Amino acid sequence: MLEKFSKWKQAFHTEEEKQYDRNLDLSRIPKHVAIIMDGNGRWASSRGLPRIAGHREGMKNVNKIVRAANALHVEVLTLYAFSTENWMRPKAEVDFLLSLPERYLKSELPTLIKENVQVRIMGTKEALPVHTIQAVDEAIEKTKHNTGLILNFALNYGSRFEMAEAMKQIALKVESGELRAEDINEDVIGAHLMSCQLKDPDLLIRTSGEIRLSNFMLWQLAYSEFWFTSVLWPDFNENHFREAIATYQNRGRRYGGL
Ligand code: IPE
Ligand code: IPE
Ligand code: MG
Repeated sequence: MLEKFSKWKQAFHTEEEKQYDRNLDLSRIPKHVAIIMDGNGRWASSRGLPRIAGHREGMKNVNKIVRAANALHVEVLTLYAFSTENWMRPKAEVDFLLSLPERYLKSELPTLIKENVQVRIMGTKEALPVHTIQAVDEAIEKTKHNTGLILNFALNYGSRFEMAEAMKQIALKVESGELRAEDINEDVIGAHLMSCQLKDPDLLIRTSGEIRLSNFMLWQLAYSEFWFTSVLWPDFNENHFREAIATYQNRGRRYGGL
């Protein structure tokens, strides 16, 4: 029996993983980790597969990282799933990308509920297919009382769109007299962003070797630590995630001070 148990433990916790665990200071885990999940297309092309095969594989990978984040008691995991610019892709690819939330939640929602994960969404529902909105709304509703990891999907999200919308809302409040122009400050702007209920990300990860933000959380990432890897999203695993956090823990955050 004991032998069986230790085998089970080994299967779930490899020597390599233990090494990373030892390196991590569990009292200084980033509270909010945001990931630009990039490189699905290249993952597929390098195997002679159609791009959507890469997106399917990328979707499967979400679980692995959600589990790793939950186990480390990360409070918020924001995943960039579809940008406001991704509409420029061929229709078939857009349709497939927008079918992924539904596919993912259909198979994973029961597990997310069981694992105490709260599903949230950041982006505009406008133009999203009804079936996508329904799947996401159901997940948000069914997990709203959970108290564990907040799994925040940036879906049809673009930072410039988000800021323009915030400015519009603020302008309307000034116009109606609800707000005075001289009272607009950073907190007021932050409160009108789609991320208003979340702390700013502590750590941003981007996979696939691209060193850019691609219109992702421009306001919120002002003082976040950035970690880039050439690993493509479908190949990004728990160990890479831990490596990013270990690097984060070796950075000195100064916020402009000393
Ligand atoms: C990331 O992979 C997924 C989305 C942008 C939706 P890509 O589809 O951008 O893959 P690459 O960058 O072309 O390899
Ligand atoms: C950013 O990746 C968007 C998502 C990961 C959802 P892209 O692949 O769309 O970004 P660019 O085009 O390389 O800047
Ligand atoms: Mg890309």
